[in-house]
Amino acid sequence: MLMKKLLSAFVASVALIGSASGMEVPKKDGNDWFRKTAKTAVYQLNKAAETYTPGMNPRSVNPDGTVRLAPLRDWTTGFFAGSLWYGYELSGDKKLQSEAKRFTLALDSIQYIKDTHDLGFMLYCAYGNAFRITGDKIYLKPLENGAANLYARFNKKVGAIRSWDFGHWQFPVIIDNLMNLEYLYWAGKEFNKPQYAEAAKTHAITTMKNHFRKDYSSYHVISYDTLSGKVLQRETHQGLTNESAWARGQAWGLYGYTMSYKDTGDKKFIAHAEHIAAFIMNHPAMPADKIPLWDFDVHNRDRSPRDASAAAVIASALLDLSTQVKDGQKYFKYAEDILKSLSSDEYLAKPGENHFFILKHSVGALLYNSEIDTPLNYADYYFLEALKRYAEIKKIDLKTINPN
Ligand code: GLY
Repeated sequence: MLMKKLLSAFVASVALIGSASGMEVPKKDGNDWFRKTAKTAVYQLNKAAETYTPGMNPRSVNPDGTVRLAPLRDWTTGFFAGSLWYGYELSGDKKLQSEAKRFTLALDSIQYIKDTHDLGFMLYCAYGNAFRITGDKIYLKPLENGAANLYARFNKKVGAIRSWDFGHWQFPVIIDNLMNLEYLYWAGKEFNKPQYAEAAKTHAITTMKNHFRKDYSSYHVISYDTLSGKVLQRETHQGLTNESAWARGQAWGLYGYTMSYKDTGDKKFIAHAEHIAAFIMNHPAMPADKIPLWDFDVHNRDRSPRDASAAAVIASALLDLSTQVKDGQKYFKYAEDILKSLSSDEYLAKPGENHFFILKHSVGALLYNSEIDTPLNYADYYFLEALKRYAEIKKIDLKTINPN
């Protein structure tokens, strides 16, 4: 009895000393892994913001160990600024907020780009988050101009937004293009242009009809005839074969239909998202840690690289999906498993390492010998978004995350 009393007095005094001296008292709520990951992410983001230059954002790591930087026209250019905004939301760190603003405003000229569909990634991830978080109107003009340029790529006959202006296709639409719809749904409301949201919804319906196979896996590229609106080709660009299930493509699809349901309330989109989720979650090639191989149809599963970026997008989408349906717990649990895997030493960088990227082990375009088993700025962006969604759902106290 005396021993027990002495022990609890000792524990109480350690806790007191800990809190009085500002030392962190470990919380016993099962979320320590989350706090450790969030702190690492916030540390990396602060260091990256000190290291890199606005307008030349870190994209990935080259095989020779140097950092590949993304100039303004690069499709990934908005992710770093967007990551800084999520880092700020996760921590309340004012330094990250001002870095986020600095890196966002450097992207100003993207609003005039007309020859790609990637304007959603490039502008909305940066300026969209900036406006959502701060409400500051300085972010609105680039968003307004960029949305007009994205909408201008919508073809009524095809019922879709044109993805690329390069390549051998007449009118290519890639599965990734679903990710740009969120921008148009939002811009339609913000700028009183209902035609933007209408075009986004039509694009989602056309894609649902033509990009998906019977098992709800998706093709990467569909090319259309602009006179008849008919499908000309079904191909891949970054997957293993035309008929394979490229991992990130499946992730974009899942995210795209979950978000399209949220933005339109159209039930066929949520049903479609659940079918895609089932394809991913039940796939026999999914490894035990739930970080997919770069393509679900690779032949040698043991020797093929994983794609942490696909995992991060899947986790973020599943967390969103878990809040949109009645039996969302299975999606939440799967996303949680992914986030815990990505938070392990295998995937999460050690503070100060990995050129200040947060995650390791993603794949850009394997068959082009480009960005194989490397950090990628969009893996970090969707990981941070997933962490933020996870914290919101679990109501995790984020007060201890801020280092400044
Ligand atoms: N949007 C290009 C990619 O996912 O790699």
